[in-house]
Amino acid sequence: MFNFCACVNFKQETSDEERRRDASIRKKKFKKSLKEAYNVPLTLVSPRESLNYREDRIINLDVGDPIMYEKFWKKMGKKATIVISGWRYMSYLSGGQSLCWFLEPDLCQQILRLHRVVGNAITEGRYIVIGTGSSQLILAALYALSSPNSSQPTNVVSAIPYHSSYPSMSDDLKTSVFKWGGDATTYEKDEPYIEIVTSPNNPDGSLREPVVNRTGGKVLHDLAYYWPHYTPITAPADHDLSLFTSSKCTGHAGSRIGWALVKDPEVAMKMVNFIEMNTIGVSKDSQLRTARILSVVSSSCEQAGSSEYPESFYGFGHRLMTERWSRLKQAVKHSGMFTLPDFPTAHCTFHGQQTQSRTAFAWLKCEDDEEDSAALLQRHRIIGRSGVSFGSEANFVRVSMMDRDDNFDSFVQRISKITRLSED
Ligand SMILES: Cc1ncc(COP(=O)(O)O)c(C=O)c1O
Repeated sequence: MFNFCACVNFKQETSDEERRRDASIRKKKFKKSLKEAYNVPLTLVSPRESLNYREDRIINLDVGDPIMYEKFWKKMGKKATIVISGWRYMSYLSGGQSLCWFLEPDLCQQILRLHRVVGNAITEGRYIVIGTGSSQLILAALYALSSPNSSQPTNVVSAIPYHSSYPSMSDDLKTSVFKWGGDATTYEKDEPYIEIVTSPNNPDGSLREPVVNRTGGKVLHDLAYYWPHYTPITAPADHDLSLFTSSKCTGHAGSRIGWALVKDPEVAMKMVNFIEMNTIGVSKDSQLRTARILSVVSSSCEQAGSSEYPESFYGFGHRLMTERWSRLKQAVKHSGMFTLPDFPTAHCTFHGQQTQSRTAFAWLKCEDDEEDSAALLQRHRIIGRSGVSFGSEANFVRVSMMDRDDNFDSFVQRISKITRLSED
């Protein structure tokens, strides 16, 4: 059988201080050379930065870009920094003996460690398969779980409101292996199916279980948000196939690393084959960076309250989310135009106390059924994603709660000013 956990080390070669100094020298030289070239006064502010600070700027909260965690990672400085020499990690292969032949042993170890520290998933008896984001793993899992001998494509279903990417992921490739089958709650066909269960759910944060429950059906658990900054951890997930992603777990969406915990070695192997066909593995650079980031997260949890880690990453995330949700609720109450879902409170085994879900998206419902909520927000220069994209109604709109402070502040201010009076 395959082993997972051989250790790989890599060296830190340049300090943060040195890099800062180099960057500042480079910036000065660059500025000087531009001045000489054009002889015009310069400010090195990108168009995006200058736009950001205009009061009437458009606030784009359409995408769930998790950049609010930047603040934590800035404080971690050198601890969360890696440098990889030019000659290292050049091979397609990794040094481990995992079924997933491109999985770096160090990342494998840190994934196992993090789940142990957080207590949100059983890893014993599971194979780890990594992908370029969990997006690639969703496709790999649909490929692996589809019925190979069926004359028809396997139906992919999920309960409304579902993650807006599932329909296009299932349909746009026009494969004969699987196809989008729509809302799981109304699925009645006597055909092979895969149900995607997202819990907590994107967009509405609800906690979910499979709804079709038919013999022979397969279930794919997308647990991108099953982390203690978003929801109470009530028990370790114990499913046949669960997906996680560093995008939402640590905020490093740009690294594009996701992982699957898979019980059945045949399914795991098919997923590996799919990734092999697509990208012949997953970036080693990203894997090593993610391993370091996950190790800092685990250490911050194990040593929370120490001088090195005054607060755990999830303590920080939960505090920030709690503050944001409380401000949004006040603004929504003041506005009187919208409602938000109620979230349950439960004992979180990670925080060791009762906590309430603080989900990554606000699922706003305009109480006027006729109203197109995305269009309403757009009139106030806020971009959200219409409920229609999630199989729901246009009076719902999803807004990301994970943007930077300045955008979130302006969003809350603007929401509080959308009143019936302002719209009449
Ligand atoms: C429920 C869910 N699954 C998967 C993904 C894809 O994440 P990744 O960045 O790992 O591809 C997202 C991204 O928003 C998501 O919300």
